[in-house]
Order: sequence, then structure tokens, then C-alpha cells
Amino acid sequence: MEYKDLIKKAREAQKKAYVPYSNFPVGAALLTKSDKVYTGCNIECASYGGTNCAERTAIFKAVSEGDKDIEAIAVVGVQEEYTFPCGICRQVIVEYGKDIKLIIGKNENEYKVFTIDELLPHSFSPEDLLE
Ligand code: THU
Repeated sequence: MEYKDLIKKAREAQKKAYVPYSNFPVGAALLTKSDKVYTGCNIECASYGGTNCAERTAIFKAVSEGDKDIEAIAVVGVQEEYTFPCGICRQVIVEYGKDIKLIIGKNENEYKVFTIDELLPHSFSPEDLLE
């Protein structure tokens, strides 16, 4: 799947965001290595700490369905701005591989691509525990 199509799916997922407190909708679309897509949006909570970001919603959907081989995750925030994953999401993403690509989209034609290792260098990750 092309990155612009993944961004389109993230934009579609963003419409489902539940954001009564921040009014800052985010959408994510996760592509597995076997070409399956899981989408996610941010879901807020009156007890703010219960909020889940769009990226983690997509990851938890994929992992809970048994899909841990993540190729890329597209993220879109408010139109015409780049929205980067927060620190908690970066830590959750690196759990599934340092080479996962993050597609940070303003729109389907304007996007930046990073690996999670670039966005969270020198990370603490499974290889620190599982060797
Ligand atoms: N948020 C995400 O969903 N993903 C990000 O990458 C950044 C932040 C959400 C969390 C919260 O619902 C809102 O954006 C404002 O922080």
C-alpha cells in the first residue's frame, strides 16, 4: 500500500475521534507486514489520564488481533500541520521494532517519514530485557 493511501485511512479514522476536552482529533492507520490495515483515533476521558492516543488505539487493535508485525503507522492531526507521536506512543511503538516507519502527514501529498529509532533514539526496548 502506498503511504498516501495509508494517510487517507488515517484521515478517515480521525473522524471517529472522541475529543470533547482537547478538541484535537488525531487519526492513525497502521500497516502490517502482511498488508493489513488497522486504524485508530484518540479517545479522551473525563479523568484525563484515561485518554488513549490514536497511534496506541491502532496498535492495541492490531496486537489484540494477533498482528504484531508492524511495517508503518501513518498519523494525521489538524489539517495542514504535522502531528508527531507523543513520548508514550513512541515507547509503545518501539516495543514492536526499531525499523517501524512513521508517516507524519499534513495531507496525503505532504508527509515526512521517520523510523521510530529516529524519533526515539537510544531507546529502552525489548532487546534490553529479552536477551
Ligand atoms: N494525541 C494523539 O492522539 N496522538 C498524538 O500523536 C498526539 C496527541 C491526542 C491525545 C489527546 O486526545 C489530544 O491529542 C491532545 O493531546
